[in-house]
Amino acid sequence: MAACLFRCSAAALLACGIALASNAPSKVVTPVVAKTTMYGNLIDPGLNRDSCTSALWYNNVLWVCRDTQQVLKNGSIGHNIVANTASFSGFPTNPSRPDQLTLLSPQGFGPLFYAFQEDECLPGSCGDNVCGPGVCADGTRWVGWPDTTPLVVRRGPLNGWVDAYGFMARQHLTGLTVLNSTGNDLFHVISRVAGEEVIPNTAMTIANFWSATEIGYGTACHVIVDGYAYLWGGTPDAKLALARVDLSSGTLDYRPSYEFYVNGKWTRTTPLNTDPTIALPNTSSKQGTIYYSPKWESFVWIGGDSFPNANAYISTAPKAEGPWTAAQEFYSGTVGNGTLPAYSALAHPSLTDGTGDYIFITWTKTYPDPATGFDVYEQPLVRVDWK
Ligand SMILES: *[C@@H]1O[C@H](CO)[C@@H](O)[C@H](O)[C@H]1NC(C)=O
Ligand SMILES: *[C@@H]1O[C@H](CO)[C@@H](O)[C@H](O)[C@H]1NC(C)=O
Ligand SMILES: *[C@@H]1O[C@H](CO)[C@@H](O)[C@H](O)[C@H]1NC(C)=O
Ligand SMILES: *[C@@H]1O[C@H](CO)[C@@H](O)[C@H](O)[C@H]1NC(C)=O
Repeated sequence: MAACLFRCSAAALLACGIALASNAPSKVVTPVVAKTTMYGNLIDPGLNRDSCTSALWYNNVLWVCRDTQQVLKNGSIGHNIVANTASFSGFPTNPSRPDQLTLLSPQGFGPLFYAFQEDECLPGSCGDNVCGPGVCADGTRWVGWPDTTPLVVRRGPLNGWVDAYGFMARQHLTGLTVLNSTGNDLFHVISRVAGEEVIPNTAMTIANFWSATEIGYGTACHVIVDGYAYLWGGTPDAKLALARVDLSSGTLDYRPSYEFYVNGKWTRTTPLNTDPTIALPNTSSKQGTIYYSPKWESFVWIGGDSFPNANAYISTAPKAEGPWTAAQEFYSGTVGNGTLPAYSALAHPSLTDGTGDYIFITWTKTYPDPATGFDVYEQPLVRVDWK
């Protein structure tokens, strides 16, 4: 029964007599860790990159990561940097024999997964000895750092066909300080072939889908439950705001399909990002993951807290709009000795059977490359079984 719940349509769930999330009674969920299993670091052949998020793709897993550099033949980290790349993997082994999971990168080191716009310091300069698209001559940098994967809206009808949408914030940084946020682009992410050899196409872009004065809905977290796509974005005070699309009548690339949760009600009018009534109490815009747990009949957020550490927190809600419980720490991982010891605590529902009985988490830790001083990234993978 539990396995049947995963990837079931709303109609199938109703046929099974299962209460849908939106009708579920409000009940308090208390996640308790039964055991944890360490799978070692993700294996990322030839590449050095951080903050990888994962999505169930066709019969495999698509990973979308942030800063990516080449690992040179002599083991040092290359100077060229791109702000986001993608890979495929299979699924983790049984916890009785926890093998390291390998991310396959058939495209090698090269272009951005989500391209930059012309005004984002293209093709890039070699300020500070770091080169690549987005790196400006004055030492500032444009980034497109994905907090989450594309949201899959369709699998099939042919083997290997997947349609998804990725939302990407455009940000201009000095160090890690944001100088300017100039809006959010929407990418239609498409696979038309089976297997791991071809990274999905992201060529169809709607620039400025959400403007600089709107929330970047879908950039922080997303999940499809009961035929609705729920899309969260960060507010200026570091909480989450929510939009939704009824996928039976609307599509993610058509603005009139969206409803926005404003002042406790759904409305078709897009709020300004400064509207004080859109922030959901007890949420956080720190990088994290939202998924739906049949075990708890709840939406679940898992993410980190203050930067930089490796603490993982969990919060649950009976509905996408809340009420969200105050986040509880449930795991504290080891940190590195680099300039950014650890960050990007994330969950990977894509690696589970969908029952909600367990989850996988990762975080990013760093140590300095002795030759270049660049941060070397490690991403430990841990399975957490719940009581
Ligand atoms: C931010 O970007 C907007 C739009 O490109 C531009 O008009 C503005 O001058 C920028 N502000 C800063 C502080 O760079
Ligand atoms: C937020 O968390 C606190 C502490 O658990 C709780 O008392 C409060 O009801 C929560 N707020 C909402 C809106 O759920
Ligand atoms: C930092 O961590 C790396 C990787 O774990 C290790 O090889 C190195 O010895 C550490 N350096 C210091 C100064 O502790
Ligand atoms: C590896 O090669 C790069 C590029 O030639 C160089 O910058 C780096 O210092 C080398 N690393 C070592 C450990 O020799």
